[in-house]
Amino acid sequence: MNIYKASDYEDMGRIAAKIIAAEVVLKPDCVLGLATGSSPVSTYEHLIKWYEEGYLDFSKVKTVNLDEYVGLSEDNDQSYHYFMDTCLFSRINIDKNNTYIPDGVCKDAEAECDDYEKKIENLGGIDIQVLGIGQNGHIGFNEPGKSFVKRTHVVELTKSTIEANKRFFEDVSMVPTSAITMGIGTIMKARKIIMLVNGEGKADILARAFKGDITPEVPASILQLHPDVTIVADEAALSRMNEI
Ligand code: GLP
Repeated sequence: MNIYKASDYEDMGRIAAKIIAAEVVLKPDCVLGLATGSSPVSTYEHLIKWYEEGYLDFSKVKTVNLDEYVGLSEDNDQSYHYFMDTCLFSRINIDKNNTYIPDGVCKDAEAECDDYEKKIENLGGIDIQVLGIGQNGHIGFNEPGKSFVKRTHVVELTKSTIEANKRFFEDVSMVPTSAITMGIGTIMKARKIIMLVNGEGKADILARAFKGDITPEVPASILQLHPDVTIVADEAALSRMNEI
């Protein structure tokens, strides 16, 4: 596990974007696994800037996203489709046909999950997967539980996730209660993982994930078994890493 200490949120984004940019330069048709939430926004802003300045070309890049809320269509401004479009895709020269996000309004969710796994396999797997971490240790929407779920699946969101994510919605009653997420096995198969973590509020869960026991009660703890994980975090988020 590599740890980069960022001086602040902006710096965290710059460091993570450099790692992603290196991949895009070295492998122009790479498969990027992308995440939503507030953690990756500055990373995307740096990638957009370097694209605008002519340093990056996304025309052959493919992307797969971690998750999507069940029940939210692409044009719903709280959907992860909408987030990716406004925060990244519409601002770089990526071919939208090369971007994949689970369909939250599909008719058959089980079939959608199977298709999503196959899509990732057919793309040749994920080169770099970007991750945030939920307050409860979730990655993607793999919530704490009794076992690790391997493949892309439908998940009921926990109360704490609904509470944490209500900040993006008008009212807590509008937060979807389920989602489609890549599984733990899907994420673990990515060749490289970058986890972005900032703020004191994440210090405890970050330490439990990387210094505590490997347990499905802290889904991110499985990353201790991944051979190529890079944590990019600010000082506040790293503050408890030596305490456990
Ligand atoms: C959501 C997403 C996760 C993300 C997490 C943390 O629940 N499904 O992929 O990592 O929130 O979000 P934030 O980066 O806003 O703290």
